Amino acid sequence: MLNDKVILGFETSCDETAIAIMKDNKLLVNKISSQVDIHEKFGGVVPEVASRAHSEMIRNLFHTSLNEAHLELSDIDIVASTDGPGLVGSLVVGYNFAKSVAWSLDKPFLPIDHMVGHLSAPLIEHPQLDPPFLSLLVSGGHTQIVLVEEWGKYELLGSTIDDAAGEAFDKLSRYCGFGFPGGPAIQRISEGGDESKIPLPRPRPKGEFDYSFSGLKTAAIYYLNDLKKEDEVSRKDFAASYQEAIVDSLMGVFIKAVKETNVPTISGGGGVMANKRLREKLSTFAENESKNIYVPSPALSTDNAAMIAMVGFLKYQNSDFSSLEKGAEARFKF
Ligand code: KG4
Ligand code: ZN
Repeated sequence: MLNDKVILGFETSCDETAIAIMKDNKLLVNKISSQVDIHEKFGGVVPEVASRAHSEMIRNLFHTSLNEAHLELSDIDIVASTDGPGLVGSLVVGYNFAKSVAWSLDKPFLPIDHMVGHLSAPLIEHPQLDPPFLSLLVSGGHTQIVLVEEWGKYELLGSTIDDAAGEAFDKLSRYCGFGFPGGPAIQRISEGGDESKIPLPRPRPKGEFDYSFSGLKTAAIYYLNDLKKEDEVSRKDFAASYQEAIVDSLMGVFIKAVKETNVPTISGGGGVMANKRLREKLSTFAENESKNIYVPSPALSTDNAAMIAMVGFLKYQNSDFSSLEKGAEARFKF
């Protein structure tokens, strides 16, 4: 179904400068320059610092990507870039760089929604993924259940009313000094811990398929603050119990949505989809219910430009082009 065009993808919506090149629906290069080391000392992403780091990194990363793919500038057929949602100062760096490349080569330019990128990421490794399917999108800024009726036709069934799942990991990790980013840190500390040791709530907001995580974070913080001197709580058990509460909440609502929509296939994406426990539970559910399951590998669950190039291919096939006048947008627009 896909063509043999060379497509260049850019992703700079948060703290990863990422460039990918695809040809014949195959990933030639997938470069990610992470800013984790820069933001770690602040305990979170500092927008101004992120924007500056993207500016310093992007040109070199672009040349390295072309070299590793053994391509010349003139070999590029299509340019795609994330246009939102994200940190606007970060977005504009990749977006404007990508537009300049397209303009200078007189090639089509495709602005791509970051969450549609996460939604489409499983296609890179699982080309058999076919709508209709239900996707659980779990990142640092979003938690959503999306019904994909066909490529390009998305229905948002539910989302978080407060914090995103990734934020729940990040905020507690920051409070406890577990590390940055919080999700991988909590997963690491949880290894070998008892996930049923500490009673934590699984908040359920009123909306049928909505999520809420801020109450869970507050309950965990209260639990720590109420501990008496003589109480002994292991970090492992605490981290494992907190991770379990997030995963249980994610699974509970998602299972309800799968049952109600009766889709044959389930999928997912976003940084939290890299979580081992969530992947295990999702796979077990799919197996028990005889559903197809296609989730990206952990490296393609977190932010990357391969997913942006992938959506670029899909859009190009539908001749869904954009004018170079269009700018980047900080907000999500399903
Ligand atoms: O999709 P993503 O890379 O960036 C955004 O679009 O936000 O997601 C980042 C989020 C962070 O909150 C990070 O803590 C979380 O994904 N994350 C994880 C894991 N790896 C990344 N959460 C839980 N377990 C992981 N292994
Ligand atoms: Zn993301």
